[in-house]
Amino acid sequence: MNAPVPLLETRNISIRFGGVEALKRVSLRLYPGEVLALAGDNGAGKSTLIKVISGVYRPSEGELLFNGAPLQMRDPQDARAAGIETIYQDLALADNLDVGSNIFLGREPTRRQFGLPVVDRVKMALVAREVLDRLDIVIPERKLTGPVKMLSGGQRQAIAIGRAIYWNARVLIMDEPTAALGVPEQRKVMELIATLKAQGVAVLLISHNLHDIFAVADRIAVLRRGEMAGERVVRDTSGDEIVHLMVGDTYADTRDQSSI
Ligand SMILES: Nc1ncnc2c1ncn2[C@@H]1O[C@H](COP(=O)(O)OP(=O)(O)O)[C@@H](O)[C@H]1O
Ligand SMILES: [Mg+2]
Repeated sequence: MNAPVPLLETRNISIRFGGVEALKRVSLRLYPGEVLALAGDNGAGKSTLIKVISGVYRPSEGELLFNGAPLQMRDPQDARAAGIETIYQDLALADNLDVGSNIFLGREPTRRQFGLPVVDRVKMALVAREVLDRLDIVIPERKLTGPVKMLSGGQRQAIAIGRAIYWNARVLIMDEPTAALGVPEQRKVMELIATLKAQGVAVLLISHNLHDIFAVADRIAVLRRGEMAGERVVRDTSGDEIVHLMVGDTYADTRDQSSI
């Protein structure tokens, strides 16, 4: 049997900001239908790595491959065109618009009325309903047509995920998706990630929350000071081992002191 081709691969990616080497020869592989968690302490380089993958930063060295082919990106539009969608912590929703408008933001469908193009609101509402159904998200009809600022944090996160899916994300990158949510909503977002995985989407999940990571990820890649400190399969590792990879030997030191 042939080895499966990673949907996304970074090979020896390095990036420097002035004198700071924020990433040092970082290599990782993400397979279809896989959830890969990216863990690491503050400043480890997680956000920088996803900005390289989503076309925001150009690496100083190294290669990106999509489905086995080199991927040259000039900007985030190139990443999106390839099927790489990124959800940043602020979600980038337009608070005063409804769900459908947020799914199409800047890419609205039009129809002709008296020979002139007008925004096709019927289509937008239909797509909003379809996208939410596909992800098993329940939002009452009257809330679908109101401004998204009236929705809960979990529902808003779901809309950002729905938007990425509607635009055919094959790789979905999520930066701390549950950081601002209450416990039931965190659980819902974890369920959404499992749904996407079952649909063959590859998810790169950045999280500080080891509980979330162990609940939903298949593998964990740990960055430490810009370097890949290690990769583990979730069922073969423990929270202790991951924390140790994140902080190195300083963890053992603090543990010793706290037990004195
Ligand atoms: N635009 C930038 N200019 C200069 N230094 C940066 C920039 N972005 C990130 N860094 C540095 O790169 C390192 C990694 O940062 P970051 O990727 O934000 O870490 P994380 O997301 O894991 O907390 C840090 O030392 C940070 O100060
Ligand atoms: Mg960050």
